[in-house]
Amino acid sequence: MIDKKNIILCVTGSIAAYKSVYLSSALVKSGANVQVILSKSAKNFVGESSFSGITHNPVITGYYDSKTDLSIDHIDIAKKADLIVVAPATANILAKISLGISSDPIVGCILASKAPVIVAPAMDGDMYNSPQVQKHINELRRINIHLSGPEKGRLASGINEFGRMTEPEDLLEEIIEKLSKKKDYEKINAIVTAGGTIEEIDPVRYISNKSSGKMGIAIAKALRDRGAKVTLIHGKLENKSDTYGIRMVSVISALEMKKEIENHVENSQLLIMSAAVADYRVKNFSKEKIKKESMNSIELEKNPDILKEIDGNKIVKVGFAAESEKLLENAKKKLSSKNCKMIVANDITLEGSGFGSDNNKAVLIDENGQENLPLMNKIKLAHKILDRAKKYIN
Ligand code: PMT
Repeated sequence: MIDKKNIILCVTGSIAAYKSVYLSSALVKSGANVQVILSKSAKNFVGESSFSGITHNPVITGYYDSKTDLSIDHIDIAKKADLIVVAPATANILAKISLGISSDPIVGCILASKAPVIVAPAMDGDMYNSPQVQKHINELRRINIHLSGPEKGRLASGINEFGRMTEPEDLLEEIIEKLSKKKDYEKINAIVTAGGTIEEIDPVRYISNKSSGKMGIAIAKALRDRGAKVTLIHGKLENKSDTYGIRMVSVISALEMKKEIENHVENSQLLIMSAAVADYRVKNFSKEKIKKESMNSIELEKNPDILKEIDGNKIVKVGFAAESEKLLENAKKKLSSKNCKMIVANDITLEGSGFGSDNNKAVLIDENGQENLPLMNKIKLAHKILDRAKKYIN
């Protein structure tokens, strides 16, 4: 899918720059024509010859670089580019891109190009969370620059925080996704649900579940990238990053989620329910904190089955089935009893899959049969779900 695509890889001065050597190699192996721009400070971490050796293209290191001739200067490559990737992106380059300060060929190239841009930040966690960096990140999202990561993990300083550059193989997936982007959900209004609902017991305590909302957010992002207008109705979420362009509606309980879905269903053509909705709520919510001595039992009452109650003749419904046993049998029952066009069945006992994980392993089930998918990241799975659901959308 990226064969013969012109990709500009901009590398800036971070310890993560070595990952871009792998990335450039993976891109070249996939058939892309890769042109590297190396910032001055990046040269402290990686060498020009690594990139020129891998890409078979001269590396641009400055505006007045005697090695480069007119046929590969920053304006020329900017016009031919299919995609620009800045990885790793330091706080410095984020600020410059956001403000349009074109003192180096990386920003000059981005300004002169109409190609989409992916930026993969890498820096210290506190630096990343600083108000200044966050301000620039928000501005980049506003101008439709795609942010990849950063991921949480061990940083060069030794702390475990958000700030790690996306791994090259995951970035490659995102690049492929971006370049093969179909707009097949254009003109579709979609509702996606994500996260776990919260059923309050008293002002302090509640009943909920392990859902992080990652699966639902991945579906919302995939729909957005494929042209749909997306409303994400969500319970508690672990992370809301990169949800620009998605209308976010926050709810607490299952009853609130139901009400919001009903408010939006009239003008929508697709409902994908990946939220983990609590099946029961507390019968008598206590306005006062219940004393532990008197908390012997909690009386519950059944919540409505939202997915089942939404009329499947008015909107295309895609449900999930979170199972710990008899995956296919239970999921097939949900397909018919909830009148869905498709069920995404996931075994929530599999390690590295399901609740809270970045990956998921699922079986897509509809009237035409089933598609057993391997373990994959949730963004990739989201696209697989949309590929199969497409035939149900007019
Ligand atoms: O959020 P993550 O951490 O990324 O984890 C993803 C996930 C495991 C939560 C997700 O992949 C998933 O399986 N979501 C569905 C969870 C669930 O509630 O499954 P269920 O089998 O209990 O319900 C079946 C379907 O009915 C679901 O689409 C659910 O949203 C819906 N439902 C359930 C109960 C209820 N009262 N109303 C509903 O609409």
